Amino acid sequence: MVEPDLSVRLGSLRLQNPVLTASGTFGYGQELAGLVNLHRLGAIVTKGISLTPRPGNPPPRVVETPCGMLNAIGLENCGLDAFCQEKLPFLRQVGTPVVANILGDRIEDYVALASRLDREPGLAAIEVNISCPNVKAGGVVFGTDPGMVLAVTRAVREATSLPLIVKLSPNVTDITAIAQAAVAGGADAVSLVNTLLGMAIDIHSRRPRLGNVVGGLSGPAIKPVALRLVWQTARAVTVPVIGIGGISCAEDAVEFLLAGATAVQVGTATLVNPRASTEVVAGLADYCRQHGLASIREIIGALILENLTVGK
Ligand SMILES: Cc1cc2nc3c(=O)[nH]c(=O)nc-3n(C[C@H](O)[C@H](O)[C@H](O)COP(=O)(O)O)c2cc1C
Repeated sequence: MVEPDLSVRLGSLRLQNPVLTASGTFGYGQELAGLVNLHRLGAIVTKGISLTPRPGNPPPRVVETPCGMLNAIGLENCGLDAFCQEKLPFLRQVGTPVVANILGDRIEDYVALASRLDREPGLAAIEVNISCPNVKAGGVVFGTDPGMVLAVTRAVREATSLPLIVKLSPNVTDITAIAQAAVAGGADAVSLVNTLLGMAIDIHSRRPRLGNVVGGLSGPAIKPVALRLVWQTARAVTVPVIGIGGISCAEDAVEFLLAGATAVQVGTATLVNPRASTEVVAGLADYCRQHGLASIREIIGALILENLTVGK
């Protein structure tokens, strides 16, 4: 039997399948190399990198909830120099496309990161995490203001010729306005969602359960919200959308593809089952066989809405 074609395109970037690892849940690839066949992945998205190393937030930094987790890691990472010198050489020899996730407090941080990464061989794309506070704007999160999204995307676009993915926050009123601003700034694709803001309280000590009080909710709990946001965004922009949020099996991924995502990222599920992402790849091939599909691309945006009244 002919193997189904799982390949997809994100702008100029061709992936052998639509399954990427989500930033922050797969380290820099090497950490999971003994457990996961990295060659089976569509792409590896690295832990977010800042210009200089970050220690992250004080503990406790992770809390379990009934169907997901809360984290307030605080973007702990090794910084740009260590990423280029210590992490990239391993990833280069794997050969799987590598997407570098970047973060900053100022537009200049993003620009410095993008222009340095542009010169590093072996990178397939840059994913811009805009869920960080813009220090100059008084701590307002970049990703919540269309004007700031446009400005940061445009600045990064000018600093690199690599395919540019802008990663959106769900903590906004109108995701489509934010996505359109990213596209206007030159994004080749948008990925969504980052974590939803949440908190948890220990009722006996009466203290917050996270050292940072609030943190990001991820995992199965956020899937319906993420799916809705992906569907709305895919209808509002012309660039490919990458769906993220609570995807832990192929069926979850299929839902996002039907909603209009061209690719998906697997995040928290990897922390539960390190092989979740490659199992999603295998499950997508099974789904194609079951449904007689020659290519996974046949289901992208193929949600049937006939005879339904579609609200916004
Ligand atoms: C422990 C942890 C660390 C994360 N670190 C980052 C990060 O550095 N950069 C980023 O853009 N997203 C980060 N995220 C967000 C994930 O990439 C993803 O968008 C989110 O968790 C939703 O997907 P999921 O429900 O599949 O986990 C992190 C998530 C978790 C759970």
